[in-house]
Amino acid sequence: MTDQELIDAARQAAQHSYSPYSKFPVGAALRFADGSIVTGTNIENASYGLALCAETVAVSKAMADGARGGLEAVAVTGPGTDPITPCGRCRQVLNELAQLGGTDPEILCVGPDEVRRLRLSDLLPHAFGPASLA
Ligand code: THU
Repeated sequence: MTDQELIDAARQAAQHSYSPYSKFPVGAALRFADGSIVTGTNIENASYGLALCAETVAVSKAMADGARGGLEAVAVTGPGTDPITPCGRCRQVLNELAQLGGTDPEILCVGPDEVRRLRLSDLLPHAFGPASLA
C-alpha cells in the first residue's frame, strides 16, 4: 500500500461523510505494520457538539477490531484549500493507539496541491498517554 493509495482510501472514506451541518467532509485512513488499512469519516449530529471526527472514527473502528499498536501512517483529507491537520482531540486519540505500539506515525495532511508530512510527535509534543500512567 503506497502513500498515494492511503490518501485515496481516505478520500474514498470521505464520500461516506455525514456532515450536513458543516458541509466539511473529512476522510482518514490508518495504515498498520501488517499492511492493513482502516478508514473513517466524520459523523455529525443535530446536537452539533457531538460530531465525531474522521480520525477518531477510524481509531475507534480499528481498536474495536482489536488493534493495540502498529500504527505506521495516517492520511487525512478535507475539502479546504490547505492541507488538513488533525484537531487537538484527534491528536490525543491517535496518540493512544500509537503509544500502545511504541510508534510515531507519519501524518499525511492532504490538501489539493500539497501533502504536508508531519510526525504525530510534532503535532502533539510532550504527549500524555498510557505510558504516563505507568
Ligand atoms: N473534523 C474532522 O473530521 N477531523 C479533524 O481533525 C478536524 C475536523 C470534522 C469535524 C466536523 O464534522 C467538521 O470537520 C468541521 O469541523
